Amino acid sequence: MLNDLRTFHPRRSRPSTGAKYALEHLLPEYEMPSTPWDFNQLAPSKRIVIEIGSGMGEAALALAATNPNDFLICLEVHTPGVGSLIYKAAEAELTNIKVVIKDALDVINELVPDESVAEFRIWFPDPWRKTRHHRRRIIQPEIVDFLLTKLKPGGIFHTITDWDDYGVQMRKVLSNTDGLIVSELVERPTWRPVTKFERRALDAGRSIHEFIGVKK
Ligand SMILES: C[S@@+](CC[C@H](N)C(=O)[O-])C[C@H]1O[C@@H](n2cnc3c(N)ncnc32)[C@H](O)[C@@H]1O
Repeated sequence: MLNDLRTFHPRRSRPSTGAKYALEHLLPEYEMPSTPWDFNQLAPSKRIVIEIGSGMGEAALALAATNPNDFLICLEVHTPGVGSLIYKAAEAELTNIKVVIKDALDVINELVPDESVAEFRIWFPDPWRKTRHHRRRIIQPEIVDFLLTKLKPGGIFHTITDWDDYGVQMRKVLSNTDGLIVSELVERPTWRPVTKFERRALDAGRSIHEFIGVKK
């Protein structure tokens, strides 16, 4: 089922001048290899963190800067967002952040070794609001089970939504996942930067539903 599932909305927007420059000139320096990843070679003794759907990269950039021991891989299909992320990463001289512009599920399936990831972040995934589109939501049993195979024991699965019904789905899927101990956060962690999507949700008066699972 992972083969034919598209979890993202195709978005057409132009990259900014900086993002265009970054995509043309800086991408090779920031792009992860297209052959299976050996983290012992690529990032010896670093904590491997994968963010699925990093958007414009606001959270990733801030957290890569404050957590130099993390090796943060951002998987995102929205090219202008990745361009912007790379441009800012270069400006800040960050060396512990990398990208792939491709469907995250394909990338993880093809390139990520089992039990190699310390943390998955899926923050404010596309909500697919219409009922007939719910099958496209990324937080669903088959996908969570698949991602768990890539997490190390003790690894973290962190997901957040600003849509109540998706929050209900997340709670149900995660608490029914064997091999995951799940907590629902009551308060927003102060270390997590506010992204454009979260700001928009808060401004619109929506509640945030945030879950952290630990692999047994
Ligand atoms: C609603 S946005 C949130 C972006 C960011 N996490 C934030 O909080 O600002 C969801 C993002 O996930 C990306 N996305 C969804 N499914 C994806 C997939 N399978 N692979 C890569 N990116 C994906 C979309 O392109 C979009 O940029």
